[in-house]
Amino acid sequence: MEQKLKIMQLNNRELIESIQSGNIRVCIIGIGRIGLPTALSFANSGLPTIGIDINSKLIEMINSKIFPLKDEPGYDVIFEKVIHEKFHVSTKIEDIVPNSDVIVLSLPTPMDKNNIPDYSALLSVGKQLGELLTKDSLVIVESTVEPGFIENEFIKSIESSEKNLVAGKDFAIGVCPETANPGQIMNDFEKLPRLVGSINDETTNVIMKIYKHVFTVDLIPMPNCKTANAVKLTTNVFRDLNIAFVNELAILFEKVGIDIMTVLEAAKSKYNFQVHYAGPGVGGPCLPVNSYQMINLAKKMGLNTLKSVETARIINESMPNHVINLLHDAFVESGKSLENSNVLILGISYKPDVKDIQITPAETIIEKLKNLKTNILIYDPYFKSTNIFDLETESSLIEALQKSDALIIVTAHKEFHNLDPIFLKSKMKNAIVIDSKCIINQQAAKDSGLIYRGLGRGKI
Ligand SMILES: NC(=O)c1ccc[n+]([C@@H]2O[C@H](COP(=O)([O-])OP(=O)(O)OC[C@H]3O[C@@H](n4cnc5c(N)ncnc54)[C@H](O)[C@@H]3O)[C@@H](O)[C@H]2O)c1
Repeated sequence: MEQKLKIMQLNNRELIESIQSGNIRVCIIGIGRIGLPTALSFANSGLPTIGIDINSKLIEMINSKIFPLKDEPGYDVIFEKVIHEKFHVSTKIEDIVPNSDVIVLSLPTPMDKNNIPDYSALLSVGKQLGELLTKDSLVIVESTVEPGFIENEFIKSIESSEKNLVAGKDFAIGVCPETANPGQIMNDFEKLPRLVGSINDETTNVIMKIYKHVFTVDLIPMPNCKTANAVKLTTNVFRDLNIAFVNELAILFEKVGIDIMTVLEAAKSKYNFQVHYAGPGVGGPCLPVNSYQMINLAKKMGLNTLKSVETARIINESMPNHVINLLHDAFVESGKSLENSNVLILGISYKPDVKDIQITPAETIIEKLKNLKTNILIYDPYFKSTNIFDLETESSLIEALQKSDALIIVTAHKEFHNLDPIFLKSKMKNAIVIDSKCIINQQAAKDSGLIYRGLGRGKI
């Protein structure tokens, strides 16, 4: 093995030369949805990169040259180019970290069943780093964490090992919170500015130089880690709040007989209105978790609550209930009983055009339907003929429609955008359509004879 660089001791010229000549060794710990594209970007920039993950099946798959993220356009090509060349993978953190100059963490930061943020993956890897880091390595945390976590908890997890490493003296540490959107990570990696915060100016300078080489986007230096993490959370909590606002308006407008989509379309003409859309709930590994991270921070700081954010969570978490209310209402109009009827869920991903069901509102809707003793069918182009939520998913949309009395559009996958009401009416048994994403033309639905309920749309 070649001697590894003491990256934090290089002057600017040496640093740039080392980056450009591919002499800096990078490891990315956690090569999931975000970590794998990140690792591929580092490798594609010419830096030798090793991805580390505890999921041995994932490592085997990648070693067999199978690209696991089929719904991330563009990265399949880079994967082919760099795998076994600049990019390798391993489960053995103990072999890789001591030989790496830069250690990037893209570990999961979910929450537990009580909505308390769970930083255990980061804290356990932090402990390992305390044993494995060698002098002058650089650690960069890309995972989403609450402001202050790096300073108050994560650095301590590294420093508490027997090696007694000290941040700023023995190793450098900073953050570059990831803001990419699943399904369009390449696009976001090429366009979205990135925030860089760290424990001192030298570290920020080194991170900025490395990231400038790997990514083409603007880099925004932040005064410290906690401010960078606060920006990341603020942007996502902003979305959660605004979605709650339109969700509440949607329920109101249904009663008044106003179409929320018409309102939002026109509201967009006002220069300072930023549109958000109503829906069956807010899912995924980011938005709901980030709101709870902010609430958790407020509690830690001795504030009783963060009222606006807590209220937004209550509203967004109640939306599956509202979808069920719309279904009830439609069944009353049809004169049929919901019990024992066949209800088809269209789309279970938490957002369109990705294969991801983390914290998806579809799961809550399905639970509620099970309690109502309906027979549930699922069709999702990303989850065909598989077992999800203890149900066998359908493989053909037409066959699923033929078996169904009612359908609920939960996820606005592209495949559902052109659903024609006349076609639905001709295929379905009872022809009830609950459109929680307002992707069907309401007038056309009425003209076709469907019993239609659109979330946020008054009856016409
Ligand atoms: N997915 C998103 O939309 C998104 C967007 C922006 C930021 N983020 C943030 O990025 C971080 C990673 O999220 P993700 O969606 O890529 O998660 P993920 O679950 O897809 O990937 C995390 C990976 O880490 C691995 N892992 C877990 N514990 C480990 C350990 N101890 N050692 C080594 N590997 C371990 C897992 O096996 C998994 O492959 C999170 O903090 C998340 O909030 C996610």
